[in-house]
Formats: sequence, C-alpha cells, structure tokens
Amino acid sequence: MSSATSAAAAAPAPSPPAGNGEKVLSLRGITKSFGSVSALTDINLDVGAGEVVAVVGDNGAGKSTLVKVLAGVHRADDGEITMNTKRVDIVDPSAAIDLGIATVFQDLALCENLNVVENLFLGREIRPGRLNEVDMEVQSWQLLRQLSARIPTVRIPVASLSGGQRQTVAIARCLLGEPKLIILDEPTAALGVAQTAEVLDLIERLRERGLGVVMVSHNMEDVRAVADRVVVLRLGRNNGEFEVASVSSERIVAAITGASDNAVSRRSSRRSQSGPAAGNTAEPPPGNTAEPARSATSATAGTEENTAS
Ligand SMILES: Nc1ncnc2c1ncn2[C@@H]1O[C@H](COP(=O)(O)OP(=O)(O)O)[C@@H](O)[C@H]1O
Ligand SMILES: [Mg+2]
Repeated sequence: MSSATSAAAAAPAPSPPAGNGEKVLSLRGITKSFGSVSALTDINLDVGAGEVVAVVGDNGAGKSTLVKVLAGVHRADDGEITMNTKRVDIVDPSAAIDLGIATVFQDLALCENLNVVENLFLGREIRPGRLNEVDMEVQSWQLLRQLSARIPTVRIPVASLSGGQRQTVAIARCLLGEPKLIILDEPTAALGVAQTAEVLDLIERLRERGLGVVMVSHNMEDVRAVADRVVVLRLGRNNGEFEVASVSSERIVAAITGASDNAVSRRSSRRSQSGPAAGNTAEPPPGNTAEPARSATSATAGTEENTAS
C-alpha cells in the first residue's frame, strides 16, 4: 500500500491517457428483449473522446445487440442514451449517422467489385451526377495517409485487398461522415498477426483524432494492446469494468465466464506456484479445458441473425 502511495506521489502529474475527458456517449439502463429473450438488461456504458473502450463477453452476452442499438438497427425497450450531454433517441440507422455514430459491422459491407475510391465514396459521391474523380481520389489518399494505411493503390477492386486492408477501407469509409463515435464489431476476428497489428495501429489513430471508440472483441491480446477500458457483458448484463493498465487477463476472463475458476486462471496459478520455468509445460489436464472465452460455436451463436422478430 505504502509503496503504491509513494510511487503515485513521485510520479509526474498523470497526463490524461484517454482523450480530453469529455463524454461522447453515455448509456444508462439500456434494456432490449426479443420476445422472451432478454438480450440486454440495464446496461450502462460510458465512452470518452479519445478513449477506446473494449466490450467483451462470451457468445450470447449481448455485444452485437448493444452494437445494433447504437447503430440504430434495434431500438432499446428502455434506458437513456446521451451523446455529448444531450439525450438522444436512435430511432434508425440514419439517425445514428446523423448523431455522429459510425459502425463498422463484422461483415464490413464493402462492394467487392468496386475499387477503394468507389467504396469510400459509395452513396456520397462528390457533386452528385457529376462525379469528380480527381477530388475523390485526392481525398481518399489524404484520408488513408492520415490513418497511415498501407494500401498500395486506390484503384484496385476491394476483392484483391487483404483482410486488414479491407478493414482499413471500411473504417476510412465511416470517417468521411466525420463521426464522434466509432463502433467496431470484432475488427480483428478474421485477421492474421500482421494485419491485426495494422488494424490496432489504425485504432490508435482514431484515438489520436479524439474519437470515442467502442471495440467489440473476443481477443484479450487485442484488448490489452489498444483499449483503455474493458467493459464485460455477461448474459446481457454489465459484469465488470476495468482499466486495462491495471487488470490481469485472468480477471477479465473470470468476469466473462462468471467464475474465477477457469482454465486460464488455473494455469496462471499453477505457473506462479511452480515458478516461471514451468510456464511452458503447465498445460491444463485434458478433459476439463473449458476455454470459455473461445467457445465461438456455442449453441446461441448461429441463430441470432436469422431470428429477427
Ligand atoms: N434478432 C434477434 N432475435 C431474437 N433473439 C436475438 C436476436 N438477436 C440476438 N438475440 C439473442 O439475444 C442474446 C444476445 O445476443 P447477441 O447480442 O448476438 O450476443 P453476442 O453478440 O454477445 O454473442 C442471445 O441470446 C441471442 O440469441
Ligand atoms: Mg455477436
């Protein structure tokens, strides 16, 4: 205790790590049911300007429903949404966009056969009816450069880009609307290591621009790499909120699964009991490896999109 206190006293005045402290988004008591299924119950969530908030949870926890409430796809049954201190009602997707909420869904919604510029400006071509190709291309390059995006040319079809580059195009596309809040649903789920690093870099750029970012993720490493705060959902409810800098992955996993006893924490405690040298060999015994955070194919997963009432 005393060492922590003296360390804090000795440290320079903490620079605000998460933007300017202005709240972009605030949810209170958000509730949403589908028939008898309570997808969200009494959810609270705050996102500051220049802050990356990871929303994590097992399958069926309500993450996608929360994203869809914010994107105007679903309307909350109850609760309050405040943006920059103003009460708002997100009645449909265009209301979300007007409020400055941009959502990059997991499927990205890009047109494979169109090139990067065409995808960026689809639906908002400069001077309708008289496309100014040069302006659009210049703006595309400016935007991609601001994001430090590694895209070789903007005149190739999106189909020939890597997964990371597509994610970049999808994010760049939503920035054209000058949003205040960006919501990314599993932005690295389909990506390899290098592409994941590229997208995480890009999320850093979004933070630097002072945007609020909500990142839905299953991946603890990504969360640790880029998020300021983690909000855990479990069975449609808030189940913990942590500063990333000061929480262990085990605690997050425990909040996700609702149990402090799970494969990750068991392995970690074995490791700390037997010293660091045993780390590589301390595999959990076969047969009881629940690995709950990875159960990507749980029974609820396949049904959610097709059962809209
Ligand atoms: N359109 C829908 N119709 C009926 N039930 C749904 C619908 N969308 C989600 N659900 C249910 O709501 C719960 C939360 O789902 P979801 O938000 O997709 O969770 P997550 O994204 O965390 O996996 C699940 O029980 C799911 O089956
Ligand atoms: Mg989901």
